[in-house]
Amino acid sequence: MSLRRLSLALLLPVMALQAQQAAPTLHEALLAARADRAGEPGVAAAFKRLADAHGTPLYIYDQAHIKGQVASLRAAFGPRFPKLRIFYALKANTNPAVIDLLRAEGLGAEVVSGGEIESALRQGYAGRDIMFTSSSKNPREIRRAIELGTVLNVDSLDELNQVQAEARRQKKQARISFRINPGVDPHTIHQINTGIAESKFGLHLQGGIAFKAYETAKGMPEVRIEGAHCHIGSQITETDGYVLTARKMLGFVKELKDKLGIRLAFLDLGGGLGIPYQDGQHLMSPEDLAKDLEPVWKEGVAAAGYEPTLWLEPGRFFVGGSGYLLVRVNTVKETPIKTFVNVDAGFNTLMRPAMYQAYHRVRIIGRTQDPVKVDIAGDVCETGDILAEGRLLPRAKAGDLAVILDAGAYGFSMASEYNARPLPAEVMVVGNEAKVVRRRGTMNDLYRSAKPAAAPRK
Ligand SMILES: Cc1ncc(COP(=O)(O)O)c(C=O)c1O
Repeated sequence: MSLRRLSLALLLPVMALQAQQAAPTLHEALLAARADRAGEPGVAAAFKRLADAHGTPLYIYDQAHIKGQVASLRAAFGPRFPKLRIFYALKANTNPAVIDLLRAEGLGAEVVSGGEIESALRQGYAGRDIMFTSSSKNPREIRRAIELGTVLNVDSLDELNQVQAEARRQKKQARISFRINPGVDPHTIHQINTGIAESKFGLHLQGGIAFKAYETAKGMPEVRIEGAHCHIGSQITETDGYVLTARKMLGFVKELKDKLGIRLAFLDLGGGLGIPYQDGQHLMSPEDLAKDLEPVWKEGVAAAGYEPTLWLEPGRFFVGGSGYLLVRVNTVKETPIKTFVNVDAGFNTLMRPAMYQAYHRVRIIGRTQDPVKVDIAGDVCETGDILAEGRLLPRAKAGDLAVILDAGAYGFSMASEYNARPLPAEVMVVGNEAKVVRRRGTMNDLYRSAKPAAAPRK
């Protein structure tokens, strides 16, 4: 064998090994897309592998991210608030694998409907580890919550009376807290701003309405008052709203003890922690929030003369950044005004851009060249079905893949079958594996509860 051949023979296995080592795992490919490296061939190959195996549109969740978020919240709050209980707000993402994961991480379940109560039970939650918040509960939901020993966040005096009547009927004591409207503006967008005085949620501190509710409940043997609850909004990026809310709520805790002799087992400051949706976006970290809340909490509990357990109930914070929506480009169209990249998902798949004018980063997979300003347009037959507007992205072609980042919260859970498009599949990535955690919807799913089809026309 010539010297050249010999050195090639020796080198080739090493080169193959290097190439193998360089190929990112699926988890690494997701992180690379986040770091704007979706154009790299290894990263593109990983996304192609996912699309080939599972089709598009596809929701992909990164398990490591969810675990990391839980750990970071615990690390920030645990040492400062020894009496702490964290819940997961299921509405953000009700995939059973996600609920399983967060239950295994030791979180309680915060739910907003009878359906979410059943989702939590199905994944192994006990009724006592569930908290039920809704401003409009129907009689079946109230009955079920009381049967299960779930904490009901009562939202009106009318509801309190209904809870009392149902508890009496069941000969049980209902566990309750009240959802309080503290009248605080956390400076988030209108649709998810829940703690302002104009919102439909909660009993107002203003005018002594919340106080009156506790006073009334105190006289009801059918209810056991366990706490006070508030949730001032979602995608909150600054600590001030929380700090002001904590101050007001702790003042109320003191008032309840001083005037009514009520001591609360918990004070729930809600969820709402924001996540960065844009490159380079800076917002409060869990550490910032815990640090700013600590002195207010200490001062408040000292004044009240006792310490309720601090409850938190984020949703988006745990799962938002874990989610990636993988889509395929159907067509590219240049109009006199704009260039549209038409993809195979729309607001039926990801509602947030149409509903909240929310911003999601988009990466074109496997392309790095020739940036053009485009709108990423959905496949729903509506003018408003634009997933991303005016983005400078590498030129895409029909058949290319693109990935929409931070789609793990209020993504699939808000998806619909509008335009008779079945729901997308969902996979959970662990290392280099992607496990199907909900199969793709089918046309049969669309008609599962409808009358049988008419006989085909001759
Ligand atoms: C009562 C309640 N708790 C918690 C949450 C979770 O909010 P986020 O996902 O912003 O943390 C919500 C969502 O709107 C909510 O309504």
